[in-house]
Amino acid sequence: MPFHKLTVSLESRSYPIHIGAGLTASKSAAQIVPRLRGQHGVVVTNTTIAPLYLDRVQKWLRAAGYESTAIILPDGEKYKSHETLLSLYQNMFRAGLQRNSFVCALGGGVIGDLSGYAAATYMRGVDLLHIPTTILAQVDSAIGGKNGVNLEAGKNFIGTTYQPRVVISDVDFIETLSEREILGGLGEVIKYGLLAGDDFISFLEMNKSEILARDPRCLATMIHFCSRIKADYVVRDEYDRLGVRAALNLGHTVGHALEKLFDYQKFTHGEAVAIGLVASLVLAHDMNLLTEVALERSLQLLRAFGLPMQIPEAADVDEMIALMRRDKKAENGLSMVLLKALGDPHLENDIDPVRLNRVLTKCKKSQLL
Ligand code: NAD
Ligand code: GLY
Repeated sequence: MPFHKLTVSLESRSYPIHIGAGLTASKSAAQIVPRLRGQHGVVVTNTTIAPLYLDRVQKWLRAAGYESTAIILPDGEKYKSHETLLSLYQNMFRAGLQRNSFVCALGGGVIGDLSGYAAATYMRGVDLLHIPTTILAQVDSAIGGKNGVNLEAGKNFIGTTYQPRVVISDVDFIETLSEREILGGLGEVIKYGLLAGDDFISFLEMNKSEILARDPRCLATMIHFCSRIKADYVVRDEYDRLGVRAALNLGHTVGHALEKLFDYQKFTHGEAVAIGLVASLVLAHDMNLLTEVALERSLQLLRAFGLPMQIPEAADVDEMIALMRRDKKAENGLSMVLLKALGDPHLENDIDPVRLNRVLTKCKKSQLL
């Protein structure tokens, strides 16, 4: 079984990402668990993942010489809150965590974001290990150090950038994911294809059936591609201040607006991103930035994976645009990441709202898709 390793090169904050099947089986522990400051820590997970993988991961840590106490949180985005964070700190304290202890996040993006924030702030920062268990977390949220909790005012309003010591993406975990979570993750994967261009798009086109059948070899290669792309953006703009990392927001401005418009009930994050990708592709084409051929190839990729592409008829486009103006990342009015070509993203500021309204309305029409 192929095994991939890459490094996120951030000077003293550099760390490896390991990708493959069977990585959290005990025999690999000594090779891939880094040398941590102390011998004890906590594994933070949730009520869905604990019965599946907690025992395996605690044994694996023990095989590398580390003891851990489990902290099991309730499952769901609504628990990415200050209330859960406070109870997490209290449980970390009860487990006897010291400055030299570690936090191991075992779960999807919700567990990763909460645990990352707790690790960054508990006693001013303890070692953090990410063991992401969803496609979305393996290709995106576990890499790059962003963490946080939601506020009533919006998602991820409170957070820090705090890099882990290691990311271990074991593709065995993908086996138990629901079809819907797989599809959501693939929305982000296709985003990387559009950002990176022909090589990765061709890989996705050629391996669609194997990916959908969860072939471990193909999943590992796909996650490796995505991790390399994400790591490259993170290395060039760790704190998201230079406008480079902002490209990762492709599809997200419309996606976030859709999630919020339907009160986070209708779409998973990745599904909303897939629809957001369609909107940004159609807009780029409408602005004569993107060719017809590139537009059609991208839409065909989203279709082939069976991702949602249509803005629901019930969506109020004016309200969506108002939400896009308030997006946490929209600093200069209406801005979106658009493609000038496959693999060539750029941040477009001052998007004409009349044009955007026309494009979003067009994205409600199924014949386009
Ligand atoms: P999630 O963490 O809610 O996981 C989705 C569901 O799958 C949950 O019910 C979870 O319990 C379950 N699950 C996880 N792994 C499983 C497995 N192996 N088998 C069976 N079930 C499993 O959702 P997500 O899509 O992983 O992450 C979304 C979150 O990530 C959002 O809060 C988003 O804001 C955040 N995010 C953060 C970043 C970042 O850079 N920090 C980037 C993207 C998204
Ligand atoms: N998920 C966007 C970023 O990490 O910058």
